[in-house]
Amino acid sequence: MNVNLATKHLLSIQDLSNLEICAILDRGDYWSQRLKLTALSSMDPDNNLRLNSGQYSGVNPIVCNLFFEPSTRTRFSFEVAAKKLGCHVLNFYPASSSTEKGETIYDTLKTLEAMGVNAAIIRTSEEDLLQEIAPKLSLALINAGAGSNEHPTQGLLDLLTIRQHFGYIEGLKVAIIGDIIHSRVAHSNIIALDKLNAEILLSGPEFLMPNDEYLSMFNKVRVCDVDRAVEQADIVMMLRVQKERHSQYCKELILSDYLENFGLTLAREKKMKFGAMIMHPAPFNRNIEIADELIEGPRSLIYKQVANGVSIRMAVLERAL
Ligand code: CP
Repeated sequence: MNVNLATKHLLSIQDLSNLEICAILDRGDYWSQRLKLTALSSMDPDNNLRLNSGQYSGVNPIVCNLFFEPSTRTRFSFEVAAKKLGCHVLNFYPASSSTEKGETIYDTLKTLEAMGVNAAIIRTSEEDLLQEIAPKLSLALINAGAGSNEHPTQGLLDLLTIRQHFGYIEGLKVAIIGDIIHSRVAHSNIIALDKLNAEILLSGPEFLMPNDEYLSMFNKVRVCDVDRAVEQADIVMMLRVQKERHSQYCKELILSDYLENFGLTLAREKKMKFGAMIMHPAPFNRNIEIADELIEGPRSLIYKQVANGVSIRMAVLERAL
């Protein structure tokens, strides 16, 4: 049982050593295999997969989901993961909470902590808030998406999906294509893939690409045009066009020909390498960044990513608790 506060939280992929990343992937893989065998019975409260060691032996930890931005996959997969581990799950709804009366997120978390909540899973539009408040909290804080900054559990589930499919990560060419500057998914994946020595090809409209200062932080990142990225990659990871984060200027630049210019069309898919696969964190804009037919096509790993969301979040919750 990990009770060291410094490692209890999961705020950023940047905070994880390569060994820690691999340990989480190994444990996620374990849960992924085990859930395949116990899929029918694992939600039965008498037959769940309890946390069974350390301070939680014989008790059910309490975790709380606090989502200040919309979510389907992350929120429900954390809830499913927590229930499969035998945790009690509280769901916090901002609109009916005292945050509507001006209570801060920090004060909300201190309140939950005082009630005995053991872990808080939080999605917020505030990019640096979690790092600021984590040292003042004794419950475990898990970043479920912080503005455009990071989405570490998405990065980890993507790594697990890649490793399960190819058997390894080092040396693979991963093209990350689209709205990179607004994508916390891209940022967590770039950090993680760079740490694990994959080659990263970034591509998209110039006004949605990161600047040179950002790119200079990584060893294995190259920028190239979308056709070259698709043709070279072992994995083509498409990103959602994040309209909700776009300025009016961005909106005007993203015209109806986005799919043709920067998206994964059927014609581009035909130029992918033999054995190359398609990923997307979802939700997707069908026929904007990716052609409709490719989402459930033979190259798609998209629903494996969703399934691995549960397994990796079980591993992350175990680490936190
Ligand atoms: N990929 C992802 O984070 O999806 P949600 O926004 O639905 O959680």
